[in-house]
Amino acid sequence: MSELGDRAVLHDVYDETGSRVYHDVSVRDTHEVRELVALVRRTPGAVLELAAGSGRLTLPLLALGRHVTAVELSAAMLELLSERLAEAPERLRERCAPVQADMSSFALGRRFEVIVLGTTSISLLDEEGRAGLYAAVREHVAPGGRFLLSTVDIVRSGGVAPTAEPEAEFEVVGASGRAYRMHEYWPTEADARTVTVFPAEIGDEDPVTVCTTTVGVLPADRLEAELVGAGLTVLARHSLPDGGWRHHDVLLEVGVKV
Ligand SMILES: C[S@@+](CC[C@H](N)C(=O)[O-])C[C@H]1O[C@@H](n2cnc3c(N)ncnc32)[C@H](O)[C@@H]1O
Repeated sequence: MSELGDRAVLHDVYDETGSRVYHDVSVRDTHEVRELVALVRRTPGAVLELAAGSGRLTLPLLALGRHVTAVELSAAMLELLSERLAEAPERLRERCAPVQADMSSFALGRRFEVIVLGTTSISLLDEEGRAGLYAAVREHVAPGGRFLLSTVDIVRSGGVAPTAEPEAEFEVVGASGRAYRMHEYWPTEADARTVTVFPAEIGDEDPVTVCTTTVGVLPADRLEAELVGAGLTVLARHSLPDGGWRHHDVLLEVGVKV
């Protein structure tokens, strides 16, 4: 950023400009899709997807033949989801209901057999936000339903932190063919990590778009304890294949007594 000086214009990764970059780098990412879809398949019925973004998980869920209510806070991300739905076959599009709402406080007035919160997005909420989310989940799960959510699993079975290096950088090619440099700043044991996305090649363009987000790191053990404290039942912890990041993610299968 300091090398770029005034040429750098910083955006939140979910704002109007940032959401296009997020969408470009993530839309082809298949991380956790297969595992999530397999778990959803086990519980027939309507799906409520939280923090749906531009639909990376929504489209595969619709492809299962389910009705999906897709909750998302950012208008820019919802716009991208609408664009994707407009291009999707009608049989998928007609089963999707996008809703602009905050996942830590929503009231949709109905229950769903499955509630999904993928992409470790629970870590975007603070403790108060998570308490609101758990309360809303209890109000929206149908009897016998499931809450499926992913988070990071910081300390692997060996009890070793994933890395001691605070900074890492890797290159990603987006769906558009554009290449990006992703920079992650995550001091050891810090409870948040900052991800910043630069163009991989910087010519003489001005401004240079740089997108950033800081996400909490919510270890699975802590999340499980919170879920139990909120009256939910953790039924299983499913391991996810590494997604190219320095941390390992898990998918929690949670039951809710209604
Ligand atoms: C990491 S992205 C995941 C998007 C999508 N599920 C995917 O896999 O690409 C997190 C999403 O959560 C949304 N978000 C952040 N805070 C939220 C909140 N309080 N309620 C609903 N959505 C939220 C962001 O706008 C963003 O689209």
